[in-house]
Amino acid sequence: MSKLRLEGKVAIITGAASGIGEATARLFAEHGAFVVVADIQDELGVQVVSSIGNEKASYKHCDVRNEKQVEETVAFALEKYGSLDIVYSNAGVGGSFSSILEFNLDDFNKTMATNVSGAAVMIKHAARAMLDRKIRGSIICTASVAAVSGGFAPHCYTASKHAVLGLVKSACSELGTYGIRVNCVSPSGVGTPLACGIGQTSASDIEVYTAKMSLLKGIILKARHIADAALFLASDDSAYLNGHNLVVDGGFTVAASSFPINVSQA
Ligand SMILES: NC(=O)c1ccc[n+]([C@@H]2O[C@H](COP(=O)([O-])OP(=O)(O)OC[C@H]3O[C@@H](n4cnc5c(N)ncnc54)[C@H](O)[C@@H]3O)[C@@H](O)[C@H]2O)c1
Repeated sequence: MSKLRLEGKVAIITGAASGIGEATARLFAEHGAFVVVADIQDELGVQVVSSIGNEKASYKHCDVRNEKQVEETVAFALEKYGSLDIVYSNAGVGGSFSSILEFNLDDFNKTMATNVSGAAVMIKHAARAMLDRKIRGSIICTASVAAVSGGFAPHCYTASKHAVLGLVKSACSELGTYGIRVNCVSPSGVGTPLACGIGQTSASDIEVYTAKMSLLKGIILKARHIADAALFLASDDSAYLNGHNLVVDGGFTVAASSFPINVSQA
């Protein structure tokens, strides 16, 4: 096995009962971390933990819309494992497609409550715990390609992911003073329940759509590729990265500017 990149570290991952969070929980544990799988899907979360192994992972019910539960999840990690080195704020919801002319404030508020307020309170309580213990921790959020461009996700989702990126940029400037890094990962489409729900389609259709948009051919984007990016941001391999948005999209979001330009015709 290659070098363990998170040996003995303690991590909380929200939204870890499924998809990207689940893949990341497995990868972090493979790399020697103790992982708190935090989610609202209790049955799935417990299954993820037992398949990782109870000595490496624990399940904690945590609805990120509820600040008290977020605070309790941080306390749980500290009590169970004695530290908190990594927090991956990944829980998210997709919202629904509709015309901006039919904008639904209730859907918008619900999406913001999980994707943005949930991330903000997670950063707050993670940072407090790290500061109190003088831990130079790593906080990561899942944003999205919808944090850097628009037009392919619901308005509320796109707005929420732009806000997550803004939150990361804002928090990193304060927390960097204490050696706490805050970064984010921005995935392109992965065939998870969330993406299938947004697109009202199957995981394989999401994969085909993502592959079409990608500049990189011959590879299908999987949750594991996003987990690899999160591992990089969690580990000392990214020790000088702060406020970074690691876009995992095969070049999709730079496509508009990536076509070869014939300078003589410019
Ligand atoms: N799949 C994609 O194409 C894609 C692309 C870009 C960004 N993302 C982001 O990746 C993150 C993970 O999503 P995924 O694609 O793995 O989907 P997923 O549906 O597999 O996982 C999302 C998880 O978040 C949990 N969750 C939802 N609301 C929660 C709450 N209030 N508190 C705690 N947990 C909650 C769900 O129970 C679920 O386990 C999300 O932030 C999503 O916006 C996904």
